[in-house]
Amino acid sequence: MNNQQAALIEAARQVRARAYAPYSKFLVGAAVLDEHGHIHAGCNVENAAYPQGWCAEASALAAMVAAGGRRVVAVAVCAEAPEPVTPCGGCRQKLREFAAGDCPVWVADLQGLVGSYTMGELLPHGFGPQHLKS
Ligand code: THU
Repeated sequence: MNNQQAALIEAARQVRARAYAPYSKFLVGAAVLDEHGHIHAGCNVENAAYPQGWCAEASALAAMVAAGGRRVVAVAVCAEAPEPVTPCGGCRQKLREFAAGDCPVWVADLQGLVGSYTMGELLPHGFGPQHLKS
């Protein structure tokens, strides 16, 4: 595991502890590495009106954009589950806005890396900004 991967997974692991998930009790942390080499982290934020909650990946992306990042070059997600927790369908689309097909998505539990994917594997033939260029 290289240093960048370890740092991104650690950021996701740490922010997971701050997740607001009183309903599902399913804590998720996500971290994205931007084109400047900066890491932005976010957790899931649930709501009493259940559909209004949002995912950790969305929080991490919002933090990146607010900080001036515009490209995602790597993603880490951390959760505890029997199977690797990959981003949900909606978050794959959100990530795809800022990430190329070869962008790695590293999935970890509290012990460390449990899965490694690319955006292209997770969202093949996805709709993206290129489709709106005339
Ligand atoms: N969740 C995430 O934050 N990211 C994922 O990749 C999967 C699901 C959240 C949404 C909800 O707060 C909880 O996990 C259970 O679905």
